[in-house]
Amino acid sequence: MKILITGGAGFVGSSLAIALKTNYPSYEIFCLDNLKRKGSELNVSRLTQAGITYVHGDIRSKEDFDSLPAVDAVIEASAEPSVLAGLDGTPDYLINTNLFGTVNCLNYALKHKADFIFLSTSRVYPIKTIETLNFVEEETRFSLTDDQPVKGVSSKGIAEDFPLDGARSLYGTTKLASELLIQEYNEFYGLRTIINRCGVITGPWQMGKVDQGVMVLWIAKHYWEQQLGYFGYGGTGKQTRDMLHVADLYRLIDWQLHNIDQVNGEILNAGGGVESSTSLQELTKICQEVTGKTIPIKQVPETRTADIRMYITDNSKVTRLTGWKPEIGVRQIVEEITEWLDQNNKALEPILK
Ligand SMILES: NC(=O)c1ccc[n+]([C@@H]2O[C@H](COP(=O)([O-])OP(=O)(O)OC[C@H]3O[C@@H](n4cnc5c(N)ncnc54)[C@H](O)[C@@H]3O)[C@@H](O)[C@H]2O)c1
Repeated sequence: MKILITGGAGFVGSSLAIALKTNYPSYEIFCLDNLKRKGSELNVSRLTQAGITYVHGDIRSKEDFDSLPAVDAVIEASAEPSVLAGLDGTPDYLINTNLFGTVNCLNYALKHKADFIFLSTSRVYPIKTIETLNFVEEETRFSLTDDQPVKGVSSKGIAEDFPLDGARSLYGTTKLASELLIQEYNEFYGLRTIINRCGVITGPWQMGKVDQGVMVLWIAKHYWEQQLGYFGYGGTGKQTRDMLHVADLYRLIDWQLHNIDQVNGEILNAGGGVESSTSLQELTKICQEVTGKTIPIKQVPETRTADIRMYITDNSKVTRLTGWKPEIGVRQIVEEITEWLDQNNKALEPILK
């Protein structure tokens, strides 16, 4: 098999590429990336050492696809992945990459009749609807209840039939618009496609920053003993997310690559689920236990733009169709990331500290 992974020097792209090459040494894997994300440059040598071909290129440029060979599958994992991107009034890079760039990726896949696997996001679900959901405030977190004002949500989390009307951030909109185009290419051009709407994905080699990659940010701040803040929802750190280890995501993508006929055209929510979820407050406790460090955390009651109180993935559909479910929990994720910081302390300090 020949596979192109766009955003292949990013966190998800490089992790998938290296896992694929390790499990299928005969596969030829090409990783295209423009290294926009700070820290992605560290992945280039990891890719090369693993026997993967790194191609410096930009998905915004049609010409950058010309030098690429024909492939059997494209995994589209390039993006400006921050939910805050463009909200300052400068959406060009975001839209040109996440939407028009996806079109270039689709056309390349079409040219070579390659299967197309898309990394979409839970952020396609509208913010205001999520913010009106019924929840209980527990001692350390907010939790969804079963009794809800809209369909597609229960205490298990948010499912694919959650209503889509309403604003969702420019990031979420570029992803949803890409999804719509992918469905057209699937229906009218016969391209085999899968859309994965992922909640928070995390693990070693994520270059966490304030607006993207909260898990690594939280652990790194503990590791280097810096300051953090609980922003919004009263400033108590009860906002909750599910966390998907990238190794769990890999098992799903591996299955999809090799069984695409069984899920061709599907949209699948895929995330850590309730079992692998945490509030910031709970995450702080785990970070303290694993790193042995306690840092100051300021409390800021005002909620930040585009933030949501909680997001949990309901994995029912993906599990029913593929048998996949996540296996790695939050504590193990924190332990693995801490170990990765320890092992790569010097290289990571200028990026994550
Ligand atoms: N990390 C998460 O929590 C999460 C959750 C849901 C969905 N996703 C999606 O998964 C995908 C991968 O995200 P990630 O976490 O690895 O982010 P990342 O920033 O680590 O990786 C994205 C990569 O794309 C590259 N890139 C950006 N613009 C580009 C362009 N114009 N041309 C070529 N390369 C470009 C960046 O340099 C980076 O290496 C994205 O599509 C993201 O939207 C991520």
